[in-house]
Amino acid sequence: MADDNTAPPCHVSVMPGEIVDWVAQCSPTVIIDGTYGAGGHSRLLRDILPPDGLVIGLDRDPAVSALVESQPPQDRISLFLGSYEKAGQALQACELEHADALVLDLGLSSDQLADRDRGFSFQNDGPLDLRFDPENGVPASEWLTRHSEKEIADAIYQFGEERFSRRIAREIVLRSKQRQPVRTVAEMVDVCRRCVPRGKNHDIHPATRTFQALRIAVNEELDILTRTLQAAPEWLSPGGRIAVISFHSLEDRIVKNAFRDDERWQILTKKPLRPSDEEVAANSRSRSAKLRVAERR
Ligand SMILES: C[S@@+](CC[C@H](N)C(=O)[O-])C[C@H]1O[C@@H](n2cnc3c(N)ncnc32)[C@H](O)[C@@H]1O
Repeated sequence: MADDNTAPPCHVSVMPGEIVDWVAQCSPTVIIDGTYGAGGHSRLLRDILPPDGLVIGLDRDPAVSALVESQPPQDRISLFLGSYEKAGQALQACELEHADALVLDLGLSSDQLADRDRGFSFQNDGPLDLRFDPENGVPASEWLTRHSEKEIADAIYQFGEERFSRRIAREIVLRSKQRQPVRTVAEMVDVCRRCVPRGKNHDIHPATRTFQALRIAVNEELDILTRTLQAAPEWLSPGGRIAVISFHSLEDRIVKNAFRDDERWQILTKKPLRPSDEEVAANSRSRSAKLRVAERR
């Protein structure tokens, strides 16, 4: 999030019209926004609720709840600090059995990307942390020292689809042995620059895939998404909807397979929906977004 907790968030919500339209069609009273972020989707969704409706927001990042606390109370939005995996507990805390919709907008917000202390952006130097929740788990720099060369290489290959994962892992471990472990963003970028040859089109930064992989590994993002999609039918009332925006193929595959393989879901979007050209022109962050929607039978 922004350096100053009272600074307004800068994140622009992705596919806001599509999210509102698909969710509104099931006439919801209770909506879970599992990835509250800057609250953009939550506020739009609140506006389609009846007067007695509620948005239950969750976010793993303590900076999100700190920001909300510094602002006036939000009408018909209850925010919980925690992973969207805990949506069932949030429902219980609100004395509710089911929600009518669940929205997940995966990945990180522009506010997290802009915060130099988090290590999310390899354009800015800072500690190599990469946790959504800096109060739990271990930072990426420590994760690297706790795993073997093979484990690091496998994670970079699996979660970043980086062809040069073995070279990168070798260099990381070599630095540790030389008592110069990778601790900062700039050091990690330097490793990637040395190990990843520039592609013909120079279209992707040599550190992009490795940072994505480390972020996914440190936050256990894919496991949490998989478990959540398995549990979600229990949280939704019949006719309720789930809408998931993903930003890379690994996430999208998990969503697609989870909807396809569970007979409690009826798929509403055969192919993933993409943002309009106008949205991509106005908000480049939306360019890789894919939205899938399913209905609880
Ligand atoms: C793309 S942003 C959401 C932006 C939001 N939809 C909006 O319109 O303002 C993703 C958010 O999900 C949060 N997040 C990531 N993994 C999470 C998890 N397992 N549980 C809850 N929040 C998570 C991140 O901290 C981040 O704030």
